Amino acid sequence: MIVAASIEEAREAVRALPRPLGFVPTMGALHEGHRRLVTAARAACASVAASVFVNPLQFGPGEDFERYPRDLAADRAMLEAAGVAVLFAPAPQTIYPAGFSTSVDVGPMGASFEGKIRPTHFRGVATVVTKLLQIIEPDALYLGQKDAQQTAVLRRVVRDLAIPARVEVVPTVREADGLALSSRNVYLSPQERAAAPSLHAALNAMLAALRGGATPAQARSTGLAALDPLGRPDYLELVDAESFERIDRLGVPAFLIAAAAFGTTRLLDNLWVAA
Ligand code: PAJ
Repeated sequence: MIVAASIEEAREAVRALPRPLGFVPTMGALHEGHRRLVTAARAACASVAASVFVNPLQFGPGEDFERYPRDLAADRAMLEAAGVAVLFAPAPQTIYPAGFSTSVDVGPMGASFEGKIRPTHFRGVATVVTKLLQIIEPDALYLGQKDAQQTAVLRRVVRDLAIPARVEVVPTVREADGLALSSRNVYLSPQERAAAPSLHAALNAMLAALRGGATPAQARSTGLAALDPLGRPDYLELVDAESFERIDRLGVPAFLIAAAAFGTTRLLDNLWVAA
């Protein structure tokens, strides 16, 4: 595996790879969810590139940029074992040199739900992923369903800016008790960790209620009742899978999305609801 720190090294390394090329962008502290993205890319592409970059632009003031878990040695070993050919691991000043001022804004889709709570988050995500795609020039971009709004935002960016990459979405990898794997799970105290699977339970309870004919408002109450009292909910909603706008009945491809804080850790989860 070639590890590139500069844009020039990364470009040169990926241009030598057999196509099609799959690309897996990450912020590191890699777990089985990330590995599954690499495995999916390996299965469909001749070569796979990955990036590890904790993107300062997508963290708001007072968020966890400084304490976000970092372990490049472990990440390298995991990516190499998973069959990644090129790892791009730049320093912040490589991506954001002095005078950097351009950003990618996706509009209203980036301002609801996660974007309401973290107003500059999706602009930061869209900007860094656009730049990474310009450097790696992959045929396919691999993203996790775990971050469903991020995936919808990035699909929109790729479409709106005519970026020549396919977007592939990989199902959420979970612990045995239902908790979605996340690099942030390491922040949870033992008590919070025990309560955290109730976020997934809340989604399942809301879906069962909707399928049983409840209105979204009734179904949300049923879902919230399944959330452990340690969890402080931010939202629990049914949204259109493509536009990410709130909808009030099943029948179109949709996501049930949820976010809740356990202590100082915010966790996200969602369920795909086929039409
Ligand atoms: P990060 O949180 O490291 O996630 C990288 C990718 O792994 C994302 O596409 C995410 O959806 C996926 N992923 C995370 N947990 C998963 C799980 N349990 N199952 C399946 N996939 C999972 O998301 C980011 O980084 C950043 O915002 C990034 C896109 C890299 C831009 O900075």
